[in-house]
Amino acid sequence: MRVVTIANEKGGVGKTTTAVNLAAALGLQGHRALVIDLDSQGHATQWLGVTKSQVPAERSSYAVLAGQAALPATLLRTHEEGVLLCAAHALLAKAALELGSNVEGLFVLKDALGADLPIDYVLIDCPPAKGAVVFNALIAADLVIAPVLSQALSLEGLGELSETVRRVQSRYSRHLPPPLILINDYEGRSAADRQIQEFIRKQFEGQVFRTVLGRDAPLRECFAARESIFRYRRTARSAALFRELAHELMERLGA
Ligand SMILES: Nc1ncnc2c1ncn2[C@@H]1O[C@H](COP(=O)(O)OP(=O)(O)OP(=O)(O)O)[C@@H](O)[C@H]1O
Ligand SMILES: [Mg+2]
Repeated sequence: MRVVTIANEKGGVGKTTTAVNLAAALGLQGHRALVIDLDSQGHATQWLGVTKSQVPAERSSYAVLAGQAALPATLLRTHEEGVLLCAAHALLAKAALELGSNVEGLFVLKDALGADLPIDYVLIDCPPAKGAVVFNALIAADLVIAPVLSQALSLEGLGELSETVRRVQSRYSRHLPPPLILINDYEGRSAADRQIQEFIRKQFEGQVFRTVLGRDAPLRECFAARESIFRYRRTARSAALFRELAHELMERLGA
């Protein structure tokens, strides 16, 4: 089992989009995927067709972090082939404070993932925040994906995330490589767009996915429809890109 954490403190960069559609792509390729929704907003939960208010706290990712439930007891089936969900709960909003009081609290998710699970790939969707919940997800990870929008302002969070991952690597998780950057919402029409992509590839050499997600209307619409891009419109440009991304991810994981 491989654990992939999707993080960026900046909001609205495509973390949830990546978690859900990458999981769906892996599921369709015959792998068993699990999405863990750590964001109290519960967007990944909703996207996978589960109504957040119908998930009791004791069957949510909050319960796992709070040590009140074992991960296998929280797994929900979704309408996406091969994709299971550990759903979010509103109580996640206070989990960071509850966990943050001692070092033990940083390893809860890693320990929970030590259970024998019928899963090949775990995708952890982080909230746009820092703190103990995101730390748990980074410590549990074999790989971190950082989506960024191809806009200059969006790059601000990257340096900080790289530094946090480096700290996690040196203190707790020797095998953790630097975050892999996924360029999202790329138009590529203007010279500025292309310059930003060049800049990212130079600055973070070897750390950027070849696959670049373009702006794609169906990808926006499929969230409202609560379906992955593969169920919503499998002929969409972004569906092909998520299939490529899944292959590239497996390559990176040496799987
Ligand atoms: N390449 C794209 N083309 C079109 N729409 C996109 C694309 N990427 C993301 N979006 C849309 O942008 C919005 C933000 O994306 P998403 O929710 O995945 O970001 P996020 O990083 O998870 O946000 P948050 O930090 O709030 O959790 C969503 O409505 C999503 O559908
Ligand atoms: Mg999100």
